[in-house]
Amino acid sequence: MNRKYRRTVIAGNWKMNKTPSETKEFMTALKGMLPRGRWCDIALCVPAVCIPAAVRAMRETRVSIGAENCSPNPSGAYTGEISTGMLLDAGCKYVIIGHSERRAMGETDQQINAKVLAALNAGLIPILCCGESLEQREAGITSEWIAMQIKLALLGVPEDKIRKVVIAYEPIWAIGTGRTATPEQAEEVCEHIRVVVRKLYSSKNARAISILYGGSMNEKNAYELLAQPDIDGGLIGGASLVPEKFVQIIEAANQPTD
Ligand code: 13P
Repeated sequence: MNRKYRRTVIAGNWKMNKTPSETKEFMTALKGMLPRGRWCDIALCVPAVCIPAAVRAMRETRVSIGAENCSPNPSGAYTGEISTGMLLDAGCKYVIIGHSERRAMGETDQQINAKVLAALNAGLIPILCCGESLEQREAGITSEWIAMQIKLALLGVPEDKIRKVVIAYEPIWAIGTGRTATPEQAEEVCEHIRVVVRKLYSSKNARAISILYGGSMNEKNAYELLAQPDIDGGLIGGASLVPEKFVQIIEAANQPTD
């Protein structure tokens, strides 16, 4: 982390977990144990049907609510889709875009790019995900793969909007597996992502964007991961479903930085 230049963001990704009633229960519990200090931004990205309950429960708090996906289209004949304008109106601040689980369902780099542009146009903060498979890591093409994903996702994002984008590095082999990247492995790729952004934009912009790590991040390994200079927060799956664990990760972000 580097609080001098950029925001620290601790974000949860609930994936397809919890009902609206369970959302209310979770948020009530979380509210009761939220630390008072403001060393990071806190977000919970929840299933679309849980957004109203989450927004209602967290209205008077500093916890922002996000979605897990959005349509690239503003409105129209797209049955089952949800637009960025709808998410904003429902009270969302963030939207996760390009998660590997959605890419595995067929989402393309082109669609991800269109979603990033749609989110920025609506005034939502996209949490853009990238990450390599184990096969790609072992083939030694992690840097190239990540650079390609980032470049394709950011096509057409203007210089004055790039700072609104949050990037999450999530190695696929570390997601839901309990096999976390080591702090060094995670730092290496997050630093690389910043270099890619620097080449596309400027060093000032690269210095200002928040890059998160995700993949089996939990209350035990968060402190060490967040101690890395280019890891500005976390995108947390499993551990964000348990208020006590999520709060401990928020607390791990309360550490001295350069
Ligand atoms: P886990 O923390 O459950 O590994 O999930 C990470 C993730 O995919 C967050 O988007």
